[in-house]
Order: sequence, then C-alpha cells, then structure tokens
Amino acid sequence: MSNYHIKHLEEYYQVYRKSVRNPGAFWEEIAEEHFLWRKKWDNVLQWDFSKPEVKWFEGAQLNITENCIDRHLTTRGNKTAILFEPNNPKELAEHITYNQLHKRVNQFANVLKAQGIKKGDRVCIYLPMIPELAISVLACARIGAIHSVVFAGFSATALATRINDSDCKMLLTSDGSYRGAKTIDLKDIVDEALEHCPGVTRVLVTKRIHATINMVSGRDQWLQPLLDKASNICEAEIMNAEDPLFILYTSGSTGKPKGMVHTMAGYMVYTAYTFKNIFQYRENDVYWCTADIGWITGHSYIVYGPLINGATTLMFEGVPSYPDYGRFWDIVQKHKVNQFYTAPTAIRALAKQGAELVEKYDLSSLKVLGSVGEPINEEAWHWYNDNVGKKNSPIVDTWWQTETGGIMISPIPYVTPTKPTYATLPFIGIQPTLMDSHGAELKGNQVEGRLCIKFPWPSMARTIWGNHQRYKDTYFSTYKNQYFTGDGALRDEVGYYRITGRVDDVIIVSGHNLGTAPIEDAINEHPAVSESAIVGFPHTIKGSALYGYVTLKDTGESRDQDNVRKEINQIISEHIGPIAKLDKIQFTSGLPKTRSGKIMRRILRKIAHKDTSNLGDTSTLLNPEVVQDIMDNAL
Ligand code: PRX
Repeated sequence: MSNYHIKHLEEYYQVYRKSVRNPGAFWEEIAEEHFLWRKKWDNVLQWDFSKPEVKWFEGAQLNITENCIDRHLTTRGNKTAILFEPNNPKELAEHITYNQLHKRVNQFANVLKAQGIKKGDRVCIYLPMIPELAISVLACARIGAIHSVVFAGFSATALATRINDSDCKMLLTSDGSYRGAKTIDLKDIVDEALEHCPGVTRVLVTKRIHATINMVSGRDQWLQPLLDKASNICEAEIMNAEDPLFILYTSGSTGKPKGMVHTMAGYMVYTAYTFKNIFQYRENDVYWCTADIGWITGHSYIVYGPLINGATTLMFEGVPSYPDYGRFWDIVQKHKVNQFYTAPTAIRALAKQGAELVEKYDLSSLKVLGSVGEPINEEAWHWYNDNVGKKNSPIVDTWWQTETGGIMISPIPYVTPTKPTYATLPFIGIQPTLMDSHGAELKGNQVEGRLCIKFPWPSMARTIWGNHQRYKDTYFSTYKNQYFTGDGALRDEVGYYRITGRVDDVIIVSGHNLGTAPIEDAINEHPAVSESAIVGFPHTIKGSALYGYVTLKDTGESRDQDNVRKEINQIISEHIGPIAKLDKIQFTSGLPKTRSGKIMRRILRKIAHKDTSNLGDTSTLLNPEVVQDIMDNAL
C-alpha cells in the first residue's frame, strides 16, 4: 500500500504508527516510490543527537531540480508550474509552464556556470517576488551551487552580514522592486552592502522597474543579455544526498543570524510529502502561498514542495493592501485558487477591513486554508474560517520552523478534525515531546511544557553554516537527546498540540522572528544610549510588537526625546530592516538588574503587557527603585 496520500483519520493513525515504529523503513518506502534518484541510498538513516549528526539516504545521488522539473515534462510539460501575479493588477499574469521553466532554469544555470560558479559555491539571492527569484534558486540547485536567499526587505547591513557569513561569491538582484504604490531601490541597498563584502566579485542584475541604476564596472552585469546567449540545456549536476542545498538565515536570541543548512535528499522527500498531504493537492489545483521566498515557507512551500509534486504554484509580487485590501480575494477569484496559505498577521490586517471586502469576491474555488508563522488567535481563526472559508474549507494551522525545513505539526485537511488555535497532531514521522523545567519528559495528555522533538525527520537542518558548536548548543544541549524548538506548547486531552509561543528571547512580529540581542546591539550604537532592553507586547495586527526600554547617557544636556526615538528606529532600520522598528520607546533611569548584572526581562515584559498586579519576586534586584519609576512612566 502506498502511504503517500492520506485520506482519512484512521489511515493517518495507522501510517503515523508505522512511521514511528520503524522510521527508516517508512521513509525508505516513500522515497522509493515517488522520486527520481540517480542512485539509491546505501543507508537510510544514521543519527546521533549528542554530536549532533543526522544523515538521511546516505549514498544516494540525485538532483532536486530533476524532481522539480524534468520528470514532469512528459506528462505535464504544458501545465503551468509558476503562475506569476504582478504587483500591479493591470499587468498581465504570467503562466510559466513546466517546459518553459525547464528552459529558463537551464539557461540561468548556464549563465551561473559561465560566470565561474561551481558546485558548492555560495550564491546570495536578493530579489523581489518575481519569477527570476524562483528560477535562480532552481538554477543554483541545478549546478549544485548553494543558494542563500536574503529577504529583500532586509537592510544593507543585514545583507552584508549574511553574505560574509557564508562567503558568497556572487549576488543576484534587480534594479528595484515594486511594493504596492511604491518602488524600492534594491540596487542602492546592494551597492551599500557590497562595500563590506570583498568576496562578491560578480553581481547579476535583472530588470524589473526599469530604473536608472549604478552599475559597477567589472562587477555588475545585466542578466538578460547573458541569458540570451546561454543554451537552454544544462545537464543537472549529480549531488550526494547530504550535500547542502541551501543556507537560510534565521534570527537567534543572541548573536549574529544563524545560517541554517538544509541538505538534498531528506529535504526533498519531506517537503514533497508534507505538501501533498497538508494541502491535499490534486492534479489541476492552483495553490497559493503568500509568503516571500526569502523565508523558509517560500522555499519549502512555494518552490520545492509544490514543484516536486508537479503543482501549479502561484507567486504574488505585491502586498495585501494594494490597490486595496481586497487584493488577496481578487487573486483567489481571478486564478480560482484552491489552496490558500498565509500568516495570522495578514488575516488580522484583512479582518480589520471588514467582511464586506471579502464578500465582493467569489471564493468558491477554495478547498484548504493554511496558517503559518505564529500562533493564530481564536478571533482571527474564526474570521478566516467564517468569511474566507465559509465554514467549508478546513484551516491547517501548520507549526514548523526554518530549522525544521517542513511542516511538523498540523491537521491534514478533511482528515484531522480542526480545533481553533491548535496545530493539532504531529505529522507523519514526527515525534514531539513536552519537557518540564527539570528536563523530564511530560508524559500523557493535558500537560504543558517546552516543545522538543525526540527523533530525526528527513528535512531537519543539519548544522549552522560554519558553526556546528552553535548548532549543538542552541538545539541539542538544553535537553539530552532532544531537538529543542524554543517554543512552549500544551497537549490537550486528545493529544492535540497548541503552540503557546517562544520561550526564549525571540519575538515574532508580523510572523518575522526577531532576536532581541541584535536589536539591542543596534540601539546601543546610538551615541546617546547607555543601555537598552527589548520585550514584546501584544499587538492587534502584528501579534507582538516591540517595546524598548532605553537608558540614555547622563551628559547633563537636555535632549529632544522624540528625535532620539526617531534616530533609534533609523539605526534599527539600517542594521536589521524596518520590520524590527520599535512601536514604543520608553526612556528609563535604569533597567532592573539582578545582582549578577542580568536584566530582569520578566519584569519589563509584565510592564509592557500592562500586567503589573504581581511582579513576582523582585528581592534579588540590585536596583528595585527603578521598577516603580518604569511603571509610573510606562507607555
Ligand atoms: O514560534 C514558532 C512560530 O514561528 C517560529 C519559527 O519561525 P521561522 O523559523 O521564521 O519559521 C516560520 C515559518 C515556518 C516557531 O518556533 N510558529 C510558526 N508556525 C506557527 C508558530 N507558532 C504557532 N503556531 C504556528 N502555526
């Protein structure tokens, strides 16, 4: 029996049991039947969480792009692979068939080769949501270059840090991007970043907004003329199962961003299998994930998962509010979208505009609704369910992470009964555990603890680029023999999981992970700032927003506080990007500290939450007097 497509609950439980009883045999069967291998594996799984080391399908050889494209050509050559919906609704949508995608990826791959890119080289991609983004990702994979996509909303400093961390040789970008009614001068950001990146010797620029831009001679070239000259046949590089496919950066609670490394075979098998089941994709469906390919959701569920399954995947360049807040629904109606996957922050922003904007459109094509990136609150869940899904399309609340590569806990639509705010059941092959603060596993149901995973799954990140020790320390040292997610969760009476949020100093703002330390480091660069602490506070649209407590240096001069606030946000925009700007900045006479000098964030969090009835034990504070002062002046 093929377990590739699960269709009812009993089958889920049966396949789940099989997948955890003998994971190797289970994944081997899935891998055997549904993928194109140049050579099969010698060993399906080898692992040791104490090192940590995980290897899936060792000895196998493949090229993921042959699975995404080539093998569909005989049966789906003229089917739309990528459906591109531009920012401006008046511009025509572009249907890129599998045949065309094959040619364009091969051409692009040949350009990369001609520019000296070889297997194992890192290529940074800093592009807006245009077809070239997906095509360049696949072109890298075609020749075995490791892509490192940096979300095009990141600042020059953030881009430079990521380029240098993984030693990228080349950068792919555009002359600018559209964002609603605005244009963004991406190339200026690139030029600024590259002043600090001596390793990047080549920049290929695609035209999108037709702006006049600065081209650095000897370094920058327009992409199109190179593509025009390139052959559209490029033999796929044969890769080993555990060769890196890509690096994708995610914020940590401390230090610089972590370059999570994902490898070929396991990532391919798991993203394909989860896509098929969690979106219940059928041959002629149109699937749309609104994420940006700059995030893991876009990698796994715009590009790889859908294409491996021969799906039609919609790529949207714009924003939900342009030309008005009906844009998402207009696109669903126009392209008869069947599966729609978005983030709670978008749902909340759209809900705020009222249901009338949804009612104007025919959404009857929808079969599955997805949510990802942060806990979905009950109100947003119901709004989504009632107004978008008309109570007919199950919501899949998918919990996962950049590190996990694929969806880990989620309902299977039409299979798992949903429950608002619950990600429900572990996906096939996933073995979650909840741990208490003493490191013991909480068995049974109706328990709450820290979410870990006790057994490897195929798409887990294998390391942090250039820093395996940090990988070990961050994920495998808190609990012995467990992968620690950094999230809290509870398990209800039937074994459903509800994710309660981060338990570390990562704050999720509009679905974006932001570590507090890098933001504090940026603020502290302001010449007037002595020290700072960032916490999250509830926000109706963003989920959480950032609250900064800032102590200024005592120079005896009076300062225009509003000006300093603006400057602080300016510095944050430059260092990280506008997404990390603070919503509230309170100037304080000091920060509450323990005797060992640690900032007591628990107290600051409570004040930001306006929950000061019980501040807990403050007896260990070195400076208890500042607490009252902070409370009195809270924003
Ligand atoms: O806290 C969890 C939250 O997002 C974190 C992972 O963020 P990132 O690596 O950027 O990946 C986001 C897209 C996969 C998690 O540790 N998170 C993600 N999905 C959910 C969620 N929290 C609750 N419910 C979810 N469905």
